[in-house]
Amino acid sequence: MARKKPPPKVTTFRLQRGELLADKYQVLSRLGAGWEGEVYLVRERGTRIERTAKIFFPRRNPSDRALRFYARKLHKLRNCPVVIQYRTRDAFVHNGTKVSIVLSDFVEGELLSRFLKRQRGGRLSPFQGIHLLHALASGIECIHSMGEYHGDLHTDNVIVTRYGLGFELKLLDMFQWGPPNAENIQHDVYDMIRIFYDAIGGQQYYARQPQEVKDICRGLKRTLIARDFRSAGRLTRHLEKMEWL
Ligand SMILES: Nc1ncnc2c1ncn2[C@@H]1O[C@H](COP(=O)(O)OP(=O)(O)O)[C@@H](O)[C@H]1O
Ligand SMILES: [Mg+2]
Repeated sequence: MARKKPPPKVTTFRLQRGELLADKYQVLSRLGAGWEGEVYLVRERGTRIERTAKIFFPRRNPSDRALRFYARKLHKLRNCPVVIQYRTRDAFVHNGTKVSIVLSDFVEGELLSRFLKRQRGGRLSPFQGIHLLHALASGIECIHSMGEYHGDLHTDNVIVTRYGLGFELKLLDMFQWGPPNAENIQHDVYDMIRIFYDAIGGQQYYARQPQEVKDICRGLKRTLIARDFRSAGRLTRHLEKMEWL
């Protein structure tokens, strides 16, 4: 039997504004790219509804495994407000190769990485940081309470949809490290504390942070974090009970 040719190493699809995908989705602009694929803002023909199209790089999506995992997990978590809503899947031919797309809601907002960069000094005050962490933890609590995990929490996978008295966030993307278990859930908790730590200035400012901050970050020691915050719910409870002395 002939061996299958390895999928081409596509790093960008270079789609142009106005191009029609799968005869249904008109490309409006490119939103970004990551490890698994490239993401475009598209408009659905017929309804003119805007959607986000995540187009998988073929080499990151053998036999549509990455797509299937992502779509099924988004669907399972559809009642968690922090998770973007899955709409449908589709495919189109690009330079002779079939490429797969996941269509989800278009989330208007700003990537957390960009939001943090434009803060004064590139960082949040500890108090703002706590609000950010609370929005993350209380949102992810829904995922963990369903026995699931996110698997890829970092500032390029979080969109700030509103910033006022507190933060409103949506999570993009997920990664499959294997079946959901305590270790994967623990990893999410560590990653959100890491986002918090970096958002308030990282290592450079850590020594000067108030005790309340250190009681959360625990010097980024995984065992200490795991002992106190087994899941996002535990962390949420802690944040809701803490007092600034
Ligand atoms: N709804 C969206 N709105 C704005 N930008 C988005 C949206 N979805 C994805 N992006 C951009 O595309 C990038 C890659 O999308 P993501 O779903 O994280 O895929 P990957 O698995 O390739 O990292 C994101 O980091 C972000 O910059
Ligand atoms: Mg990503």
